[in-house]
Amino acid sequence: MKDIDKEPFFIKEIKEQPKVLANTLTQYLGPNRHLKMTRPPLDDQTLRKVRQVYITACGTSFHAGMTARYIFEELTQLPTVVEPASEAGRHHLLIDENTLAVAISQSGRSQDTLAALNLAKSRGAVTLGLVNESPSPLTESALGSIMTLAGQVFTLSSTKAFTSQTLVLGLLAVRLAQSRGLMKEKWPRDLESLGRIPELVRYVLTLEDKVVHMAKALASYDHVFILARGALLPMAYEGALKLKEVAHFHAEGYSAGEFGHGPLAMVGSHTPIILIAFSGEADQSNLALIRAFRARGAPVWLISEDGPKKDLAMAAMSEVFFPLPAVQPRLRPIVAIIPLQLLAYHLGRLRMVDVDSPGGLLGGEDLVKPAFSP
Ligand code: BG6
Repeated sequence: MKDIDKEPFFIKEIKEQPKVLANTLTQYLGPNRHLKMTRPPLDDQTLRKVRQVYITACGTSFHAGMTARYIFEELTQLPTVVEPASEAGRHHLLIDENTLAVAISQSGRSQDTLAALNLAKSRGAVTLGLVNESPSPLTESALGSIMTLAGQVFTLSSTKAFTSQTLVLGLLAVRLAQSRGLMKEKWPRDLESLGRIPELVRYVLTLEDKVVHMAKALASYDHVFILARGALLPMAYEGALKLKEVAHFHAEGYSAGEFGHGPLAMVGSHTPIILIAFSGEADQSNLALIRAFRARGAPVWLISEDGPKKDLAMAAMSEVFFPLPAVQPRLRPIVAIIPLQLLAYHLGRLRMVDVDSPGGLLGGEDLVKPAFSP
């Protein structure tokens, strides 16, 4: 029996995600599937004036914003800019009163994110905070805020807040699309699959033993590349961030499409590759990449969909196949990040890292640490 009192908060919070995601759906979806996101500045009158979306955040929250961009542009048909808060203002910021500026922050305290929000505010943007802590400096400064309902967070490296952020941002994209008269017929069908997210994440968590084996194998290397495309690419970045932050293991998230333009040169038996790829998306390019990795002796681990849509050719060429359940493509990012969160935890434990306080903060820690101490 695991001594749960000693179980780190990091793994506890990973395992809280089905409940957090279910609470998030309950909070924002009414009984007849209408979105409960109508209080200003999410009222129709305000949203109808929006002509572009600007999303800004730091770290893991930035990766939630990156993946949200794909859904925002697809559903709202509005240009959506996503940038690290630390870069805001270092270029000519095209933000005005017709911009919806969304600042994402689990703690609501990250100094860069607050500064980026205030810069957007100074340009007349409609500012919205997506936070897990309220009140917080971010909620005090934004015109309005929505919550991620992840509950108290005791670890610095965000997991349950991240998947809740990703879900809430998807719902926010639907809200904005609906205010623009879009999404009428498609939403109910998509909503069906949205309701399955908590059970899908719960299922993936039951595959933890597979991840333990992956962590043991990875422990004998010094580096890993995590590759993906499209809305899954931010998950490659996030998985790499978790491995660096929580396991102190060097990992690099990279565009699968870009990888053949240079980085492939360093691939060999010393560089395992984790590829997040699904059948029907750039199949030939992914197969060519895997062949190139195998020709160089690099181990390839595939995170992909199992079942009738399993890509047998890619799976046959991979040493490890991590089977994700079938899920509507827009929901794949939330499901795909789970094995990578678990991998960071188990590798961190193998490398004797304090996974709850791995030490990834830069100065001004009182501005980014949780608002309370466990
Ligand atoms: C960093 C943490 O300090 O802050 C990351 O190490 C986190 O895990 C980032 O994602 C942003 O924090 P917040 O609270 O603004 O989402």
